[in-house]
Amino acid sequence: MSTYRLEDLKQYSDTLHTRQGEPLNVRFVEPGDTDELQYYFRSLTTRSRYNRFFGALSELPNGLLNEFLDVGTRERFTVVVTKMVDGFETIVAEARYAFHAETSTLEFGLSVDDRWQGNGIATALMKNLECRAVALGAEHIFGDTLRSNQTMISLARKSGFAFVNHPDDWKLVRFDKEIDIAPIDIPCASWRLAALSRQVERPSASA
Ligand SMILES: CC(C)(COP(=O)(O)OP(=O)(O)OC[C@H]1O[C@@H](n2cnc3c(N)ncnc32)[C@H](O)[C@@H]1OP(=O)(O)O)[C@@H](O)C(=O)NCCC(=O)NCCS
Repeated sequence: MSTYRLEDLKQYSDTLHTRQGEPLNVRFVEPGDTDELQYYFRSLTTRSRYNRFFGALSELPNGLLNEFLDVGTRERFTVVVTKMVDGFETIVAEARYAFHAETSTLEFGLSVDDRWQGNGIATALMKNLECRAVALGAEHIFGDTLRSNQTMISLARKSGFAFVNHPDDWKLVRFDKEIDIAPIDIPCASWRLAALSRQVERPSASA
């Protein structure tokens, strides 16, 4: 499983809920999202962008934008969380994740539109990423954050992650969680199906 076709990926669209119960859609980014994605990053506060990319960016540079839009290559994916605002599908959060088959780990980074922070969106999105991790065969899910990013550290702690030093950068801390969910118990329907069909195709994957 290294390169995916967008038509195949479109079936993996999930519903998340804010803490107030408002439904949001989470789906893979598509080429038609280019302007909206760039607008989303430009609209984040300077601080949120700094926390997301560990440096000062006003928008995604072209190379990074192309990486974000390239879904599935080398098991790297971007998802957007969207909501209908005045009849337009609007991005309110995003996550980029990579499956590292050699270590059976899924690495991710994410952000939520500042106007939407504090509503449980990142909590719900991280749960969804855990479903994706199990479906890909990951045994651990992890991310890196700046040591100064107390919001992310508090969110990771509440979500059951443990903390370890970053292997190369003292300014960062790594949060890591073992995922011990059997494919049949994955709490996201489309990823449960994906994991079960993966088990049928590769029976040894579940051993
Ligand atoms: C970190 C981030 C993703 C959290 O998103 P969010 O949707 O607001 O998070 P949630 O609403 O799910 O909050 C979950 C927990 O995070 C913590 N949290 C959220 N906002 C916080 C704040 N302003 N201060 C301290 N802790 C906060 C709390 O523990 C909260 O749980 P609680 O509401 O039960 O107290 C968001 O702040 C963000 O996008 N920041 C910029 C990018 C970034 O830092 N990314 C992480 C590195 S990749």
